[in-house]
Amino acid sequence: MSYPTLPASQRAWTFSTWGLPREILSLNENYTVPPPPARADLLIRVSHVSLNPGCYVTMAKIPPLVRRLVSGNTTYVPEGEFAGVVHLAGPAVPGHLQPGARVFGCLPVPKLISGAGPLAEYFVIPSESVALVPPSMSWPEASGLAGGGQTAINMLLEARLREGTRVLVNGGSGGVGTMVVQLAKAQGAYVVATCSGASGELMKSLGADELVDYRANDPLPAYLAKTYGAQPFEYIFDTIGTQALFVHCPPYLTPDGKLVNVGNFEGPGIAIWRAMLNTYLPRIFGGVPRRYVFASTTPNGDKAAGLARMVEEGRLRVVVDEVFEFEDALKAYDRMLARNAKGKIIVKVQDV
Ligand SMILES: NC(=O)c1ccc[n+]([C@@H]2O[C@H](COP(=O)([O-])OP(=O)(O)OC[C@H]3O[C@@H](n4cnc5c(N)ncnc54)[C@H](OP(=O)(O)O)[C@@H]3O)[C@@H](O)[C@H]2O)c1
Repeated sequence: MSYPTLPASQRAWTFSTWGLPREILSLNENYTVPPPPARADLLIRVSHVSLNPGCYVTMAKIPPLVRRLVSGNTTYVPEGEFAGVVHLAGPAVPGHLQPGARVFGCLPVPKLISGAGPLAEYFVIPSESVALVPPSMSWPEASGLAGGGQTAINMLLEARLREGTRVLVNGGSGGVGTMVVQLAKAQGAYVVATCSGASGELMKSLGADELVDYRANDPLPAYLAKTYGAQPFEYIFDTIGTQALFVHCPPYLTPDGKLVNVGNFEGPGIAIWRAMLNTYLPRIFGGVPRRYVFASTTPNGDKAAGLARMVEEGRLRVVVDEVFEFEDALKAYDRMLARNAKGKIIVKVQDV
């Protein structure tokens, strides 16, 4: 039996300090290829990568010293969500994930921080973090399924949705929002989604029952209080982290209701500080009398496989905003920083 060989070096986008992508990322034509994987790890030949705003935020906010302490390295490759082919498998990898398998997945958070991401021709990921690509999916679509999808699953695990449960999805047209809208609809919820006017058609095609144009109805909390005060929401799923949405929510969120947030565009420090305040500040000191949860992404292969099944059953799709060539990764980050993508921004790494 012949085993796939590894090239001596690879192309990878790398950084070694902190800042915005255009300031710190460069295309390294001669980057080290990881060694053959140990235990249950996979060495992946990456086809496509889906960008996640959390990665550029942490690129800008996590000091290099912290990354160095976590990983022991001084050069880092960004991102976490990918689709590609298993090139080499460690000795404890299960049979269905052997070399040649088409897989997608998302790095666990500690590995995201350590900076051994997939914006490179080859990278390593634990086999428990991946699932097989559904046959009906293109590579770009598959690369965008795991991160937003599993984040959406975790958000919905904080709720008990029934037929007709009224929910608001803030940021319905983004990578996470498009998933939350579809998964909430699949559980029977009545979904109101915020988006800009240009995203309206997309949101309707994903099943949203009502739309709120957040630009035309600024300030949003006052509009929601006026429009939904008589029929408040039971859950608000916030993918943007709009603090005012929680601070002013009592008129449009039922007393038993809950706001579940994942948005942290301003960085982990502010997100943690707000989560503490929103969760624990007593009412007598101005705390909001509603429940608040900051949900996190805990990706694993079983959840990814569940999403793949939904795709195969025609109940879920990945919305691709645009696919960029590998050399144009900085343009992909520009697109992301514009904050108006419709679904996922994808970088093609190579033909696999
Ligand atoms: N993607 C992941 O896997 C993942 C995982 C964990 C956590 N998160 C966190 O979740 C958050 C969202 O990520 P994402 O990938 O969904 O972001 P994204 O796709 O980059 O978000 C872009 C979307 O945000 C919408 N938007 C911008 N400002 C808005 C506002 N004020 N109100 C409502 N919508 C607004 C835009 O809608 P219009 O174009 O319609 O204006 C656009 O569709 C980030 O903080 C990220 O770090 C993401």
